[in-house]
Amino acid sequence: MREMMTKTDSRVTVHMVASLDGFIARKDGSVDWLETSDVFPGGEVMAPEMIEAFLKTIDCYVMGSRTYETALRFEAKGFGWSYGDKPTFVLTSRTLPRTRDSVEFHSGDLAQLVNGRLRPRFHTIWFAGGGDVTGQCLRLGLADEVCYSIVPVAIGEGIPFFGNLDRDVALHLAKVKAYRNGMVELRYEVQGRRAEPGNDTGREPRLP
Ligand SMILES: NC(=O)c1ccc[n+]([C@@H]2O[C@H](COP(=O)([O-])OP(=O)(O)OC[C@H]3O[C@@H](n4cnc5c(N)ncnc54)[C@H](OP(=O)(O)O)[C@@H]3O)[C@@H](O)[C@H]2O)c1
Repeated sequence: MREMMTKTDSRVTVHMVASLDGFIARKDGSVDWLETSDVFPGGEVMAPEMIEAFLKTIDCYVMGSRTYETALRFEAKGFGWSYGDKPTFVLTSRTLPRTRDSVEFHSGDLAQLVNGRLRPRFHTIWFAGGGDVTGQCLRLGLADEVCYSIVPVAIGEGIPFFGNLDRDVALHLAKVKAYRNGMVELRYEVQGRRAEPGNDTGREPRLP
């Protein structure tokens, strides 16, 4: 019953890192290009403690199965699990290995998952990718905010930030931040979301 109550200040954010030409991974799924050697002298430094404090503000993650499989491969190579012990909802129609209690699989209606199950329970709902799932999120009008980080590299082709977007989505540029490593973070509000019931943005999370 408690789950059915709408948490009025819940907020859905889509966040990924892209190349300047708008790709989140190469066609084969690799993300080797994410690390660049660029230096922007006037940029902010991302201190580990700031990142850690920021990650604590995220209440749950949502991701597609291909992103989950990438995360499992990273973990197998010794890079750790990026999502801590936060509840992580993985969209899949397949049977995938469940490596920790915090992971839950979901198949089917994404709007039902977000509006029916996640918004009533969590304040800060973080869509961690990939392009297929973030495309659905925007297409279904589920996102309040898009955080788009651009790495200073163009890779020519790959998986786009928003897969299969079939309409224009108007955005409001809310924040721009440049970092010392050359990354630029663009933060957009999805227009039309803020005024909707159940979408009070009073407790807006702060990105580092
Ligand atoms: N640069 C970044 O910040 C960043 C962030 C995240 C990911 N990535 C990269 O992006 C790539 C993956 O992106 P992607 O667009 O290919 O895939 P994705 O969005 O991670 O996963 C898509 C898959 O999720 C499953 N799925 C999606 N919606 C579903 C639904 N409603 N019900 C059931 N299953 C559903 C489907 O697979 P099945 O049903 O077959 O399982 C679908 O093929 C990886 O290479 C990853 O490394 C990059």
